[in-house]
Amino acid sequence: MLLLNKFPAWLSAFALLLLTQEPVSTSEVTACGVTVDPPANIEITDPGFLGYLSIHWTQPASLQNLTGCTVRYQLRYYDTYEERWRSVRTVKLTYAAQFDLEKPVKVRILTVLKCACTKGTEVQGEEKEWVYTPEPTGVAGSRIRDFHCVYYGKEYMECTWEAGPGQPPDSQHYLYYWHREMDETKECPEYIISSEGRSGCRFPRESLLEFSKFNLCVNGSAPAGSLKMAYFSIEVQNHVKPTVVSSVHVSETDGELKLEWSPPSGQVPDHCLEYEVESSTTMENGKEKQEKIVLQNLEDTSFGIPRKAESQKTCFRIRSKVNMYCADGGFWSDWSQTKCTEDKETQYIPKWRYLSLVVIGIAGVIILCLSLWILKKM
Ligand SMILES: *[C@@H]1O[C@H](CO)[C@@H](O)[C@H](O)[C@H]1NC(C)=O
Ligand SMILES: *[C@@H]1O[C@H](CO)[C@@H](O)[C@H](O)[C@H]1NC(C)=O
Repeated sequence: MLLLNKFPAWLSAFALLLLTQEPVSTSEVTACGVTVDPPANIEITDPGFLGYLSIHWTQPASLQNLTGCTVRYQLRYYDTYEERWRSVRTVKLTYAAQFDLEKPVKVRILTVLKCACTKGTEVQGEEKEWVYTPEPTGVAGSRIRDFHCVYYGKEYMECTWEAGPGQPPDSQHYLYYWHREMDETKECPEYIISSEGRSGCRFPRESLLEFSKFNLCVNGSAPAGSLKMAYFSIEVQNHVKPTVVSSVHVSETDGELKLEWSPPSGQVPDHCLEYEVESSTTMENGKEKQEKIVLQNLEDTSFGIPRKAESQKTCFRIRSKVNMYCADGGFWSDWSQTKCTEDKETQYIPKWRYLSLVVIGIAGVIILCLSLWILKKM
């Protein structure tokens, strides 16, 4: 049996489907003279948190009078984001999990019994499975595309999208979001508007919660009908793009090149950053050599390398990213400005050129005066 708190169109179809579809019975398992039935009265409720569904059940009647046993439940559900089954065991009668409401919702549950009369071994009852494939609703081809979120310097996050190929004219998009510290979903605090209409949402830092599911949904309406719902579930700390590294400084002492910089501005803690330094060295023979080094676990923001004897000039640029100790993913920042060492060979040439220009100039004037004087004489 399945009950639902709220009844969006597709979920009532879900309810009907589950009420009429009795799970296929395999062989009956018995232990201590009773049948180990699967849990009873299974309900999947949608509290409206964009895919965070609650599953409830009750103890099977067959086990009600059993003493000297521990009863646990093994729940498996298909994680559509990671594309694998997840398994949990609990003595509780409820569990909440994240589902992608655009994909089939699959849940399997069984009872695990451990009693004195089973000599302490576990007996697993028959497993029940529920599968629900949501009915597609909305205008065909109207689902948004290329949805992605970037959390800039941990100061604000922007999620952007492209219109679906079959989007009907005069469509209006809506974005809703939810995380576990919110009582209900909220609409986007600030839409990003492009020439085609709403094309993204900007979230201030205060509206985000890290290390927790951050659920989003983009839907819409048009005179021709509603647009297809698109659901997403992310963890915002994995979408950080640090701001650009500023004030890069290159110095040279005793044959060593030293690079110093300031950490990017923004809210990313210094110990959460890794840097990539790209150097390109021009050799005396005119050839260029490029190298990239990723620096993790930096105590200070400086870095030294020996100057190559045959190098003429070395240029550096730096970018940064959140490291693996602070997040499972992230984006590289843009590259900093390029900073170079002084050119070894051509260092004094400008002065010399300037001097020679002066000399040529003076010589020119003298020659002009002389020729004028000679002309006058003639
Ligand atoms: C459990 O015990 C109650 C009261 O003794 C009885 O009415 C009920 O039928 C029993 N249930 C089972 C499954 O044996
Ligand atoms: C979009 O989704 C939200 C959240 O589920 C819902 O409240 C709203 O009515 C939907 N809007 C449209 C136009 O479908």
